[in-house]
Amino acid sequence: MDYVEHFLHAATTRGVGFVAVESGPSGEEIVAEIHGYSPEIFCFSHVLTDLTIAVTPRQQGSGLGRRLFSHFLRAVDEQRPHISRIELFARESNTRALAFYESLGFEREGAFRDRVLNSDGSLESDIPMARLRT
Ligand SMILES: CC(C)(COP(=O)(O)OP(=O)(O)OC[C@H]1O[C@@H](n2cnc3c(N)ncnc32)[C@H](O)[C@@H]1OP(=O)(O)O)[C@@H](O)C(=O)NCCC(=O)NCCS
Repeated sequence: MDYVEHFLHAATTRGVGFVAVESGPSGEEIVAEIHGYSPEIFCFSHVLTDLTIAVTPRQQGSGLGRRLFSHFLRAVDEQRPHISRIELFARESNTRALAFYESLGFEREGAFRDRVLNSDGSLESDIPMARLRT
């Protein structure tokens, strides 16, 4: 809960975030979310970091993630001209996600070795990626 409160506060005060909402018989439901925010330090004010996207499992693979991410990038490009660098991290084993981000203009910038602790106790690299405004 603290994690959610932290990123909601950061995204609403110094970042960008969107949700995708589905209407159904029982009301509206958030089915996907994307956010990123600028660090509070001046020298990083042109950066959006910790970009995170999640799509509800039953809608994964249906094109929603790509549409939401493209909307996010368009909004940053058009409405936040001072943002010239967007950063994210992805696990090395999440090859589909890595390819997805590369298809959206992100490039791999190395590896944080053994940064991620998996639920089975193993460690794996976290891959930093960035998209620079060209
Ligand atoms: C990664 C994720 C945001 C993509 O959203 P999505 O709506 O499923 O993706 P789309 O249907 O728009 O497809 C976009 C790309 O995502 C990739 N993708 C699809 N399902 C995925 C899944 N379950 N996990 C990882 N990547 C997936 C595909 O390679 C696809 O590429 P393509 O367009 O060349 O086929 C979403 O699947 C998700 O939330 N996955 C679980 C959590 C996760 O892996 N998050 C990334 C952590 S860095």
